[in-house]
Amino acid sequence: MKKVIFNNSYEKGKRSITQWFINEYVDETSKVFEGFAGAGIITSMYAQKAKMVLAIEKDKERHSALEKKFQDFENVQLVNADSLDYLKSINSFDFNVVDLDPWGNANKQTELALKLMEEGYLLITSGEPYAISRFKIKIKKYGKPPIISLEDFPEQLFTRFVQPTAEKLGKKARLIKHFNSPKICRIIVEVN
Ligand SMILES: C[S@@+](CC[C@H](N)C(=O)[O-])C[C@H]1O[C@@H](n2cnc3c(N)ncnc32)[C@H](O)[C@@H]1O
Repeated sequence: MKKVIFNNSYEKGKRSITQWFINEYVDETSKVFEGFAGAGIITSMYAQKAKMVLAIEKDKERHSALEKKFQDFENVQLVNADSLDYLKSINSFDFNVVDLDPWGNANKQTELALKLMEEGYLLITSGEPYAISRFKIKIKKYGKPPIISLEDFPEQLFTRFVQPTAEKLGKKARLIKHFNSPKICRIIVEVN
């Protein structure tokens, strides 16, 4: 199993914006879908307050570790699967918080979540800022001109990808807050 290092400023920033969101928007009626459970740091945060958390993890060993970690939590359900396959396979989707915290990007999961979700909140992490800051890669997948600037990456991700995808599906998306760093960014979007 790959070692996951959480004790760095990017992870702290990610946790801190998530805690802000939980304080402001999550309550005992919230149903959370987490597409990339990892070591369950974010799962634990939701589990303190939400009605239920469904946490998907593809890696078998990490999933087993999660089963141990959450064995006494009645409101946490764990699934060992690929989150994209899982989202493609379900007929009903009864969640009002979708949290996607991948390595790299979760664009395919984001599209499906926007389709399946009636209304609620979408939290998306992207590792693409690292490609820009470390390797000076021009991000071309969000249309022209390519994104070359780290500073406004979260806004660009929202206006070029999340918002138009929601609009195509007849939904409205509003960027509530974001966290940015040279390694990852995280955006919080309201969908209705
Ligand atoms: C950035 S980590 C998630 C960290 C997690 N949010 C936490 O708080 O501990 C990304 C995780 O997603 C898992 N993963 C990668 N691709 C996946 C997929 N398609 N479906 C489900 N899990 C996946 C990896 O095994 C890894 O554990």
